[in-house]
Amino acid sequence: MRAKKTIRDVDLRGRRALVRVDFNVPMEDGAVGDDRRIREALPTIRYLLEHGVTAVLCSHLGRPGGKPDPALSLAPVAARLGALLGRPVPLLPDCVGPEVEAAVAALAPGSVVLLENLRFHPEEEANDPAFARRLARLADLYVNDAFGTAHRAHASTAGVAAYLPAVAGFLMEKELAYLGRALDAPARPFVAILGGKKVSDKIAVIRNLLTRADALLVGGGMAYTFLRARGYEIGGSILDPEHLPMAGEFLATAAARGVAFELPHDVVVTTDPAGGADAQVVPADAIPAHMRGVDIGPRTAAAFAAVIARAGTVLWNGPMGVFEVPAFAAGTRAVAEAMAASSAVTVVGGGDTAAAVEEFGLADRMTHISTGGGASLEFLEGRELPGVAVLQDV
Ligand code: 3PG
Repeated sequence: MRAKKTIRDVDLRGRRALVRVDFNVPMEDGAVGDDRRIREALPTIRYLLEHGVTAVLCSHLGRPGGKPDPALSLAPVAARLGALLGRPVPLLPDCVGPEVEAAVAALAPGSVVLLENLRFHPEEEANDPAFARRLARLADLYVNDAFGTAHRAHASTAGVAAYLPAVAGFLMEKELAYLGRALDAPARPFVAILGGKKVSDKIAVIRNLLTRADALLVGGGMAYTFLRARGYEIGGSILDPEHLPMAGEFLATAAARGVAFELPHDVVVTTDPAGGADAQVVPADAIPAHMRGVDIGPRTAAAFAAVIARAGTVLWNGPMGVFEVPAFAAGTRAVAEAMAASSAVTVVGGGDTAAAVEEFGLADRMTHISTGGGASLEFLEGRELPGVAVLQDV
């Protein structure tokens, strides 16, 4: 991947920047729940303000479907950002239009404002050129720091770059550096740990990693389709019949290429996935017909931890079990702890996995936790993200 220009590479004097951030954060009772994405955008915002740039921030929140929805206003985000920055961040009533243009034109150098939810307009997701041009009218520089939305070719993530010089912010730079290095120049052995419910979500990632990683450790719901492909009975565990042949092919490819493909040796099974009253550990080839697997077992956790301890780079995407239920969190926790204890470069894909690591209090002990869910997955598939492609090359 070619290196992208950042805000460090351009003359910022006297500039007004449209800064696309990903403030699509979880909300709880009308306030920001987890503010990690906001905190991760602070270095870029602070740097711009310190250099006298007028920062016009923009983001989506949720999926309002192209019309205004007060429940998806960015007002709570503006409040949280203001608290983190230590200065008020006014929220403008819209993201385009004469009123917004006038308000932005009146801003003093070094000011910051947040535009209202971009997705209140259907033209945003449609990547409408006229809408992109209206956004571009607000600034003379475009800064994309929204790695989490870089897999979307929307007006604010891609289209706008046709009308303004486009460079990366520091969060974008950091994400591309850590995820890119893991794929392209990993310290070896390079171990990838994959989990989560669905095989279908990870097909392209597995295909890419089979050409790059030294070992793949697979847990979570997706592991049962691989166990089935190996000929095991998996009881009531999640099976993706459509991808069963593909799972078999991946196992064969890994063997042919000398990539270790490690599946659970033992699993936690239950008839009660919501509570786990009758949970027990069984060998992976002895899952009772009436039970389903909900976590990797302790023997597997120890085996995975041993591989992690010898790794140079560990990349993790997807929990090992139903970690939201405390009785089934042990496998996911064991992987997180093994990564925290290792001296390897440890990179965690976003979404559920990032949430698990935060919940275990181990976030500070990872080298990098991506702010991207879908974006980090698509990146790991080896695809060029539209929001990255439009940025100027160094
Ligand atoms: C995310 O949270 O993955 C991004 O903000 C993108 O959101 P979207 O899936 O609604 O496009």
